[in-house]
Amino acid sequence: MTESTTTQNDGISGVDIVLEHVSKTYPGQTEPAVADVSLTIPAGEIVVFVGPSGSGKTTTMRMINRLIEPTSGTITIGGRDILSMDGNKLRQKVGYAIQQGGLFPHMTVAQNIAVVPKLLKWDRARITARVEELLDTVGLDPAQFADRYPRQLSGGQQQRVGVARALAADPPVLLMDEPFGAVDPITRGLLQDELMQIQAELRKTIVFVTHDFSEAVKLGDKIAVLGEKSVVMQYDSPEAILSNPANETVAGFVGQGASLQQLNLLRVRDIRLEQRPTAREDTSVEEFAARIDDWGVILDSRDRPVRWTDRKHLTGATSLRSVGLPLGEIVTTASTLQDALEAILAERNASTVVTGPRGRYHGVVTIETLIETIRSLREQHEGDPPIADPAAPHDDAPGSDDADSEGSPG
Ligand SMILES: Nc1ncnc2c1ncn2[C@@H]1O[C@H](COP(=O)(O)OP(=O)(O)O)[C@@H](O)[C@H]1O
Ligand SMILES: [Mg+2]
Repeated sequence: MTESTTTQNDGISGVDIVLEHVSKTYPGQTEPAVADVSLTIPAGEIVVFVGPSGSGKTTTMRMINRLIEPTSGTITIGGRDILSMDGNKLRQKVGYAIQQGGLFPHMTVAQNIAVVPKLLKWDRARITARVEELLDTVGLDPAQFADRYPRQLSGGQQQRVGVARALAADPPVLLMDEPFGAVDPITRGLLQDELMQIQAELRKTIVFVTHDFSEAVKLGDKIAVLGEKSVVMQYDSPEAILSNPANETVAGFVGQGASLQQLNLLRVRDIRLEQRPTAREDTSVEEFAARIDDWGVILDSRDRPVRWTDRKHLTGATSLRSVGLPLGEIVTTASTLQDALEAILAERNASTVVTGPRGRYHGVVTIETLIETIRSLREQHEGDPPIADPAAPHDDAPGSDDADSEGSPG
């Protein structure tokens, strides 16, 4: 391993990042792109910068690894002023992942991941071992992918390699600039889940930029809502921002205060539920694995949800009785959307399972559905009805393959 910059408590390998009165005016410009930003990013946490295009998110992020020099202000990483550090040394401590992976097209996957270790003059055996370890970490089989070129990978695979490359020298800090912006929603969800799993283990300090508020809610320990010139409009936990936006503009991301209060008035049965694959505990593991794309719900003999599981859990398992993880908070069709929101924020799948009569599985509420609902409430509030009514209750269960649950949910 590289020299570790920190050995802090609680398995945290990251370090604090502190921005004080940081501004950037590009050459030839009269107005700053970033004006007077002050922010502390705590060690071991994921802080998400969310804000509209042009608000200076990328500029702010690139000042942290000095790809862009601040015009004024100070930035410290682990207590050290970055301006006093050699730029190349700094960038070895700060991993950087961008949209589409930012991979070098003329290098193989292994060569791409090895860029920083090579700069650090690791020996060949150590580099090879590290590349294999990292490909494994991001869910790519080294034997299959190490020698491919970026153009031979899907968008999601390129993104995984980009993350592996950013992690190569085990830096305490990771900067991720809209890293999952260019992939389809399902792949995006998977990559987000994997990032959260990796982070649970590594506990880096991660600055993650997005313009997608639901992505921010899913990933962020804290969210910094940025306005023009990266002015920090609110910096708090997702819960606090959702339930108590600091101003109208912030409220615009999630719906206005008035519509948020309606979360207490609306019930889970009033909104569209998603369906996940389900199986009773006596179903064969292979049969269920074949139906799971992301994750599914295991039911008892009376169709009450008992655990959730993904394909990884199922690999090598012999019975559905002994796999998966306990469901966190469950809501019922009678629960309020506020209850659903709280349950979702406590769950790692960014969703909560819903039960109907007699505790039977009924469906799933996801953060996306909830945010969509809040948005449409807001539009109704402004006397501007949505074109379609996404919140209309439907009884159609999309998964027609859950033959082992008697009676369709709904
Ligand atoms: N190299 C540059 N020279 C001049 N202006 C720039 C440069 N890079 C970005 N800008 C401007 O700075 C502002 C912030 O850009 P950026 O940091 O890319 O925002 P974001 O990542 O939030 O979309 C924009 O108005 C953009 O046009
Ligand atoms: Mg940007």
